[in-house]
Amino acid sequence: MDVDNKFFNAAFLLVATLVVAKLISALIIPRSKKRLPPTIKAFPLIGGLIRFLKGPVVMLREEYPKLGSVFTLKLLNKNISFFIGPDVSAHFFKAPESDLSQQEVYRFNVPIFGPGVVFDVDYSVRQEQFRFFTEALRVTKLKGYVDQMVMEAEDYFSKWGDCGEVDLKYELEHLIILTASRCLLGQEIRNKLFADVSALFHDLDNGMLPISVIFPYLPIPAHRRRDQARKKLAEIFANIIASRKETGKSENDMLQCFIASKYKDGRPTTESEVTGLLIAALFAGQHTSSITSTWTGAYLLRHKEYLSAVQDEQRSLMKKYGSKVDHDILSEMDVLYRCIKEALRLHPPLIMLLRSSHTDFSVTTRDGKEYDIPKGHIVATSPAFANRLPHIYKDPDRYDPDRFAVGREEDKAAGAFSYISFGGGRHGCLGEPFAYLQIKAIWSHLLRNFELELISPFPEVDWNAMVVGVKGKVMVRYKRRELPVN
Ligand code: HEM
Repeated sequence: MDVDNKFFNAAFLLVATLVVAKLISALIIPRSKKRLPPTIKAFPLIGGLIRFLKGPVVMLREEYPKLGSVFTLKLLNKNISFFIGPDVSAHFFKAPESDLSQQEVYRFNVPIFGPGVVFDVDYSVRQEQFRFFTEALRVTKLKGYVDQMVMEAEDYFSKWGDCGEVDLKYELEHLIILTASRCLLGQEIRNKLFADVSALFHDLDNGMLPISVIFPYLPIPAHRRRDQARKKLAEIFANIIASRKETGKSENDMLQCFIASKYKDGRPTTESEVTGLLIAALFAGQHTSSITSTWTGAYLLRHKEYLSAVQDEQRSLMKKYGSKVDHDILSEMDVLYRCIKEALRLHPPLIMLLRSSHTDFSVTTRDGKEYDIPKGHIVATSPAFANRLPHIYKDPDRYDPDRFAVGREEDKAAGAFSYISFGGGRHGCLGEPFAYLQIKAIWSHLLRNFELELISPFPEVDWNAMVVGVKGKVMVRYKRRELPVN
């Protein structure tokens, strides 16, 4: 009886303490003061995951009209708060790393990029490593890369016959890896080790599965092959770096820039860091650029008015400069630029950008609603969805490159962060100029030397890919001909 009483008293005390604690917390932090964003309706526990796996962009399309520009998805034990549109995403792009960081959400890249680089290091080191990228992609460097891009395109397409049918997607993927090998990895790899290295990159690539985002070290065959490939690549690069250092040979490529890079304290990069940074560059630029080249082609071949416009532009540049193509001539291709930019607006390969929130902050929507985002939320924005907002882009699903022409400039009219295919702000893409030059070098060559016709249906989007691109083949019939100048 005595024991029963003690138990009852203890239980009563516990419940009473909890109730009082709850009351105090409710008094100190009144509920009404926490203006949390609306939450996406889903079944408890795994409902959010199911909605997300059905396709994040499908989910955004369904929820944005109902919930507005800021809302939260409960995904297992995590809260993901979505910020859609320039009015609310400014903080996403501009916040310091101490508030919104990339490291936790992009850490799954570490087994691929390797130790000691990018998302495996503190922000202060990462910032220095991004400075190495910036220096390796300066205009003076880009000018040299462009000559190599043009040579690669000429060489690649010289192997096509006089006429035939090709899968444009496959062809452009291949050409872009060859070009990237030359400009980024260096001529040793491009000329002697291309087959070996591209097979190893293939294994790295195949080691990046949706499951790898959650469990990057899961012992599955794809991850084992990824780790072996990463080790072999490190050996190959270590040899090349050692040989360049020994012979004092210097080349115009990103490898050379990374070898010569120094941290603020004077420390030079290690072989392992150089390898990791090169892999990161290739991963950032390879699929993104080849997907964009393919969409650009598909749209140009479907919209004859724009095909004529880019051909006219090539004609006038040929009148001015003959057959020469260099950095400055590519920079004059404004019509082609707008056609690429529009393909990329409709189909940004990185459909979701993420950050991890380390502080509470609030956000105001354009209709004046204010929401508090608690520390610990994952914060997300989506180029694939935000690039098609009808209050920013007129008839947003239409391919209309002229929307970027002087006089309209729809992306500028709506303010910063209206066009986010390359991200923006603090972590905006460092390879954007490189990507445009590469895609322009390819398309100016094709436009000047071939007549092309799309013979498969207009491609669909492959939403299942990690870097979202074109589904299936993009069959094109070609006929070799020189673009008549007059
Ligand atoms: C069409 C081609 C490309 C697209 C669409 C693209 C897209 C993006 C996007 C959306 C981001 C921001 C990610 C975020 O905020 O979370 C980004 C960052 C980055 N990109 Fe690109 N990219 C392309 C090509 C390239 C190329 C060719 C390179 C290098 C050669 C490159 C290097 C980088 C780097 C280093 C960052 C990280 C910048 C930072 O965090 O400070 N990208 N890219």
